[in-house]
Parts: sequence; structure tokens; C-alpha cells
Amino acid sequence: MKKICVVGLGYIGLPTSAIFAQAGFEVVGVDVNQKIVDSLNNGKIHIEEPGLPEVVERVVKAGKLRASQTPEPADVYIVAVPTPIHPDQTANVDYVRDAVQTITPFIQKGNVLIVESTIPPRTMDDLVAPIIKESGLDPYKDVAIAHCPERVLPGQILRELIENTRIVGGITPEAAKQAADVYRAVVKGDVMETEAVTAEMSKLMENTYRDVNIALANELVKISAKLGVDAHSVIALANRHPRVNIHLPGPGVGGHCLAVDPYFIVEKAQEESPLIQTARNINNSMPHYVETQVERLTSELKNPKIALFGLTYKGNIDDVRESPALDIAESLLKHPKLNVVAHDPHVREEQVSFPLHSFEDAIKDAHLIVVLADHNEFKNLDGAVLKQHMKTPVIFDTKNCVNEIEGVTIYRLGNLSHLKAIQE
Ligand SMILES: NC(=O)c1ccc[n+]([C@@H]2O[C@H](COP(=O)([O-])OP(=O)(O)OC[C@H]3O[C@@H](n4cnc5c(N)ncnc54)[C@H](O)[C@@H]3O)[C@@H](O)[C@H]2O)c1
Repeated sequence: MKKICVVGLGYIGLPTSAIFAQAGFEVVGVDVNQKIVDSLNNGKIHIEEPGLPEVVERVVKAGKLRASQTPEPADVYIVAVPTPIHPDQTANVDYVRDAVQTITPFIQKGNVLIVESTIPPRTMDDLVAPIIKESGLDPYKDVAIAHCPERVLPGQILRELIENTRIVGGITPEAAKQAADVYRAVVKGDVMETEAVTAEMSKLMENTYRDVNIALANELVKISAKLGVDAHSVIALANRHPRVNIHLPGPGVGGHCLAVDPYFIVEKAQEESPLIQTARNINNSMPHYVETQVERLTSELKNPKIALFGLTYKGNIDDVRESPALDIAESLLKHPKLNVVAHDPHVREEQVSFPLHSFEDAIKDAHLIVVLADHNEFKNLDGAVLKQHMKTPVIFDTKNCVNEIEGVTIYRLGNLSHLKAIQE
């Protein structure tokens, strides 16, 4: 059985390591963060992902997965390090460059090198291949170099890692084949071979497609508020057309995929991508739009207390990266006229720069709950508890996830034309 060295033990690298270890491979996971390495070697994980703690504990105990701060000789190298954006919205590929450079002392003729990190088009050919060349190997002959983008849904990563179709783009057809065979050992979905640049671009277009369609839904929210239409009803009815799928509006687009990946295309084709850029701008405008509605709702209260529910970029996860909910919280916490508290059962204090409150503390004497993430905990709120502890039982649900509650006023992004300032 082959030995695999996975560089980067985050939301992608850690479950990937666990899946290969579970399938019988010897896996060494590498991370620059000593804490992550130590916890993994103790069979523990530092991220929230259903089912993953059990698998990791099992494979670490069985000696199939261990962690280290430095790479070591292996047959297959998989790079899963972050690719954030710089403040000027260009891709930061420094982590990928560093990770590949740390591998070069160990990589040998006949090995496979796969980058799973999301990368701008041509990164495999223009950045990764030259690093391997500098190390003295021929990147087009000696090593099978490929990009295999990840498209898992956080919260369902273990299942999707195995069931999703994988795209494997090689810098040569032979590289694509060898890298694809690595995945065929564990993946039940189709494993499609293509060129590296096509794989890079297809990953970016998947997320751009979703970002553009969410922008369309967010634009509909603004139009509907102006015209006195309920956007959620419009979406529900329009989607009964067999070939229409309007996406869900929300407080903005977050995470390090949808909110980031479109910029990787824009960077390489600025003039050719006006639609993608406009979609980004619309989605980026949503946090401010939500803040404005909060101001409208509380405009007639003397000392309004607002409880923000949910800080992650989507429901039932603990990830706050690029989260519009976090932007809204940070902005409203600075608001001179509002007393704002935040509550999120999935987020730990050290992930944010402000205090977190329990459900009970958050709702006590609150005039308004603003739901910013569709965590399951928020879907069926207890009306009696809200009415007993809140000053005015009003909810502004930006995710359209809270079920109707008798005696509690719920405003949703779709029905803002009915919005009335809260009266004490
Ligand atoms: N999380 C997702 O749902 C998801 C989905 C699709 C694609 N991706 C892409 O996958 C890549 C990884 O994302 P993630 O969410 O796992 O990131 P992450 O931040 O959760 O984890 C990355 C890990 O890499 C480590 N690291 C950084 N530089 C390193 C180096 N030189 N050597 C060793 N370790 C290093 C960090 O310490 C961190 O633990 C990104 O390009 C992301 O865009 C993520």
C-alpha cells in the first residue's frame, strides 16, 4: 500500500488524510501548526466536522495516520494549504509555494504531487512545475503533477469526499492518469481526467456560478422591498418552473470559496469578467443592507438591545472565515446607538474579537434577534421563552430559517416592504 504525505491539516487536509488512512494507506499529515500536530497525534481534531473525530481516533490508534511538522519521503504528496486573497483581491499563493518547496527535498522520480488547494488558472504550470524543476526533477516526466480541486460541503465532508465526482487535471495526460488512480482507491464517484488548467478553471467556475446566482437573489430582495413584493414567495413560485433554480438570498456570501474564488478569475481576466465583478459587489453590499434594516427596525427605541444569532458563514459549522455575519457583528458592535450582543453555539471565544453570550444572556431584555446563520438551534425557537425574556419579541431572520412562532413578529429578507419600527 502506498504512503501518502498530506501537507496542510485543515478542513480539507485532515478529512482527506483520515479517508486515505481508513482505506489502508499509511498517511503522514503535515502542518506548520504544532498544536494541530500534537492534537492529531493524540487522536484528537481541532475542527468541527460530523463523524470525523471517530474516524481520526480509530486510524491514529491503528497507526495508519500520524502527524508531523515536516514532510517525509512518500509515494504521493497532497497539498491542501490555504489560498486566501490579498487585500487587493489578488490570490495569495504563498502557502502553496511554501508547501511545495518543503516537499522538494523528499520528492523523487515516480512520485505523484497533487495540489487540492483552490488556485488561479495556470498555477500548476506556472508556479508548481517550475519549483519541481528547480529541485532537479523534470516536472513533465519524472513526477506526476496534478490539480484535484475539492468541492466538499462542510458538515458532510466525509460522505462527499467519497461520493462526489472528482476532477483531476494533470500537467500531462500521464500525470492526470496517475493522480486519478490515487483517488480511484477511495472515491466511489466518477474520477474525471483532464488538463490542469481546465481543472483549475472548472473549480473556480463552480463557485462563481453560485456566487452570481446568489447575487441575483440578493438583487431580487432589494427590488422586492421597493416594489412591495415578497421575494421568498417569488423564488418559491419561479422555482416551480422545471428549468429555473433561483438561489437563496442572505446577509452576504462568505467562506473562503464563494467569496474568494471569483476574484481568482477576475485577476486573470479583468476586462472580460464584468458580470462576475458586479455579482461580487452585490453580495458584498448585503451586510450593509442588513445593518440598515436593523437601524430601521430599532429607530424608535431609546436603548435598543439586539441579539445577533449566528456568526459563521453558513449553518451548522464553526467556520467564520470571510463570514458576512462577522462583518455585520463587528460593525453593529461599534454602533453608538445600539447595545449589541452576539450568540453562536458553534463558535468559540478565541475565534472572534468580541465576547460571546449564552442564549439566555443574549435574549434577556432584547428588543430584536437578528438571525445571521441558519444553525439548527435557531429553527424552532421557543416562543414562550422569547416572550418571557425579550422586551419586544421581534426577529429579523436573514436566512429565512426560523419557523413561525405565535406572538413573535418575524421579518425576513424577503418581506422587508412590511417592516415597521419596533415600538416598546
Ligand atoms: N474548507 C472547504 O470547504 C474547502 C472546499 C473546497 C476547497 N477548499 C480549498 O482547500 C484549501 C485548503 O482549505 P482549508 O479549508 O482546508 O484550509 P485550513 O485553513 O482549514 O487549513 C490549512 C492548513 O494548512 C496549514 N498550513 C499552511 N501552510 C502550510 C505549510 N507550508 N505546510 C504545512 N501546513 C501548512 C495551516 O496551518 C492549516 O492548518 C484552500 O485552497 C481552500 O480554498 C476548501
